[in-house]
Amino acid sequence: MTTIATATGGRDAARPAPADDSNPLGVKGIDHIEFIVEDAEAWRDYYVDRFGMYLRAWGDESTGLKGRKAFLVGQGRVNFLLAQPSGRSSERDALQGHLERHGNGVKDVAFLVADVERALGAAVSAGAECVRDIDQHEDFKGGAIAAYGDTVHTFVERQDRAANHFPGYVPTEETARETSIHFAMIDHVVANVEDMDEWVGFYERVFGFEPTRHFDIDTGRSALMSKVMGSSDGYIKMPINEPSSGNSQIQEYLDEYGGPGVQHIALLTPDIVGTIASMRRTGMEFLEIPDSYYDGEFQRRMGVIDESVDDLKANQILADRDDDSGYLLQIFTRCLYDRPTLFHEIIQRKGGAKGFGEGNFTALFEAIEREQARRGTL
Ligand SMILES: [Fe+2]
Repeated sequence: MTTIATATGGRDAARPAPADDSNPLGVKGIDHIEFIVEDAEAWRDYYVDRFGMYLRAWGDESTGLKGRKAFLVGQGRVNFLLAQPSGRSSERDALQGHLERHGNGVKDVAFLVADVERALGAAVSAGAECVRDIDQHEDFKGGAIAAYGDTVHTFVERQDRAANHFPGYVPTEETARETSIHFAMIDHVVANVEDMDEWVGFYERVFGFEPTRHFDIDTGRSALMSKVMGSSDGYIKMPINEPSSGNSQIQEYLDEYGGPGVQHIALLTPDIVGTIASMRRTGMEFLEIPDSYYDGEFQRRMGVIDESVDDLKANQILADRDDDSGYLLQIFTRCLYDRPTLFHEIIQRKGGAKGFGEGNFTALFEAIEREQARRGTL
């Protein structure tokens, strides 16, 4: 039996707030995510073959990247940098150390800002630790602060956002590709940490984000707490999870990843049914949802929706209605790596839905527990 207590103070994430107080760093969105992986080519192919992304740029020591070879893949406003240690240098050793501590995973959740000097200066004045000073290269300027665990936030300022220029990377000729898998942008990035309130405080103090939702989830077998930190314009959504039982899936993540880190990255699609059907044809696997999920209770909860329930059921896509007029559709991949750490969510929001699938938490967390039970950790 799952119980979910939610408190929804500041529920309307689009509520206007004074520009300076609510966004002291001038954050405009997520610029890119950087992954440190053992095999950058394999993960490049994974996102190209299964996520309909295309190769935007590549780099290694010969092009000016230090200690790594890397690929930039993406689609729409989604940019994933996939980096692998290479060569002999202190930069290579730092990447290798990250791999040894965490396995494959996310190193950097980078934000696009209006003015990188202002962003980094304001973050450091608010108590953040600068881990990389500002460097400038053509129309790209970046500097970074420390976040949870070994994760960092780079602040990126660009003259031309559409150019997707990254220093040391050589752009490819490819500017789009024919695919029925569609992603527009990153919807949200979720952190697993040991102490939720510490990091809620950090994003309040440094970024001016506010808690927009709060969940206390107890499936009867394991438990977790979660708060969603968001920017007042609604563009940045960062749920932060903390384990509240010893066998919690969040505790399992912390043990396996070797500390706090990114748990999942949700990609926003304008067509989840077509996208998931196409991803399934590539052999992509998702968390299994029992057929009973789509019975009478589903129809009562969702009412009239644009999609056919048969299509949702065939693709095992979850649905949840917001308080207002909107609803969302979502699905979760299995964990990507050999450790039960990072996974992806694919989400479509309709009618301005702002939630995270609260009505699906029972189905979702029980599906994750089935995976945990398979691994013998529950
Ligand atoms: Fe999510």
